[in-house]
Amino acid sequence: MQSMNLTPDIENGIFSEKMLDAVNTDGPVPEDAALKAYYYLQKDIEMAADLKSRLGRTPTACVITFGCQMNARDSEKLSGVLRRAGFEMTEDEKADFLIYNTCTVRDNADQRVFGRLGRAGHYKKSNPGMKIALCGCMMQESSNVEKIQKSYPFVDLIFGTHNLYCFSEYLYRIYMQDEKIADIWDKSPQIMEAMPSDRKYPYRSGVNIMLGCDKFCTYCIVPYVRGREKSRDPEEILCEVRALAADGVKEIMLLGQNVNSYGKDLGNGVTFAGLIAKVAETEGIERVRFMTPHPRDFGDDLIEVIRSHPKIARHIHLPMQSGSTAVLKKMNRQYTKEGFLELAYKIRKELPDCSVTTDIIVGFPGETKEDVDDTIDVIKKVGFENAFTFIYSRRRGTPAASMPSVMTEEEIGREFDRVLKTVQETAKMKAELLTGSTMEALAEEMNAQDPSLVTCRLSNNMIVHVPGDRSLIGNIIRVRLCECHGFYFFGEIAEE
Ligand code: 5AD
Ligand code: SF4
Repeated sequence: MQSMNLTPDIENGIFSEKMLDAVNTDGPVPEDAALKAYYYLQKDIEMAADLKSRLGRTPTACVITFGCQMNARDSEKLSGVLRRAGFEMTEDEKADFLIYNTCTVRDNADQRVFGRLGRAGHYKKSNPGMKIALCGCMMQESSNVEKIQKSYPFVDLIFGTHNLYCFSEYLYRIYMQDEKIADIWDKSPQIMEAMPSDRKYPYRSGVNIMLGCDKFCTYCIVPYVRGREKSRDPEEILCEVRALAADGVKEIMLLGQNVNSYGKDLGNGVTFAGLIAKVAETEGIERVRFMTPHPRDFGDDLIEVIRSHPKIARHIHLPMQSGSTAVLKKMNRQYTKEGFLELAYKIRKELPDCSVTTDIIVGFPGETKEDVDDTIDVIKKVGFENAFTFIYSRRRGTPAASMPSVMTEEEIGREFDRVLKTVQETAKMKAELLTGSTMEALAEEMNAQDPSLVTCRLSNNMIVHVPGDRSLIGNIIRVRLCECHGFYFFGEIAEE
């Protein structure tokens, strides 16, 4: 193998068919992680062809995703590898290869995985050649892995968040060497994004800009399962964005647990504001979104870049978690009620056309009804366009797990409903203000209930359904927002 010829493509950090062609599978397994992934992908192609001739049909594969946008992006890579190897992707869990990409941020996600896994075991009984795999955040907790190995022995493959890039190798080994693999790493030795990737929507893609989180909010398991913050090289990110634009992508979502910490660990002066400006200036890219910023690090430079780049979406998701300074302190959020309000008011003033949405946790240990009053006060004052509201879920190993609760479960339920009602009221009020206006929207998909309607997304992330056909999908169109239905609108295409 001529590694000199291969180096430039590895440095670009994105998947290349040329690299895959250049791999020599008769030679030894390469040591370099990227070359090794290509080597095994080439082997997987041979393996899937062999499987196809044994089955007398194309083998099928199913990827089930739980959790956040970053998991969704990882799943695109899993299905990218499977499809490139020669599997036919399906949403049917009775597939020949089934993988659950898990989330552990709240307990109900964990429970859903175990329920699904039990059913998958029955599918395997009627298709003994079936392979079942698990990956993602839940696998980073040894108690989960032990439980799976003990109670679900039919699982063939388990890996975590730090070694997704070994997937092509694991796939080969479970099929060709008939191994059972459980391989969990406790940190990421490198950022490796050079994997083939499927896109759910041809016109939109997520792009990882960093891994991990260093904030250690006391309720949150993420820093333990996703590791320390690690920023990706900006040139590599821009190279991926350019390749996606050339492939028809119009909307990019920059992904990270804490995007406005981007660059701090690189020590070369690169900032998130600088990066997003460059992404927005990339030819062919019409819209740029980002998920998720932390209120503590939301600087004036970012506000200024959003203001001066109309292609950056008019939507800021700003997780508040609580409106009570006492609770925020116990959560280790490192801002106060007043500090959050000051930032939200600044965004409202400087970026008046931006929607502001948030995440809220109800029932954090020690939280009282008076604390929830503070949360409701902030919701009303900021007037969030939308909010995701969660009941606190105790996560083993986090500092908050040993803090006592003040409210009972019923009281928490009642407080949750009170918060939800307030959020729904402010969201509706905010949406109603836009009724009658004309805006740009990206036509995303045909409406599932009414095939005469196309579902479109405004720059501010609100949804509008307009009469139209499939030919609109992937285009940015001007729409009039005719009728407001709380979180969404019915509209029409505006005359030029
Ligand atoms: N319990 C409930 N909600 C949580 N989140 C994170 N950890 C927990 C937990 N232990 C919520 C936060 C975060 C969102 C992604 O999930 O609101 O912003
Ligand atoms: Fe979790 Fe806090 Fe990090 Fe977000 S910032 S991932 S809530 S620790």
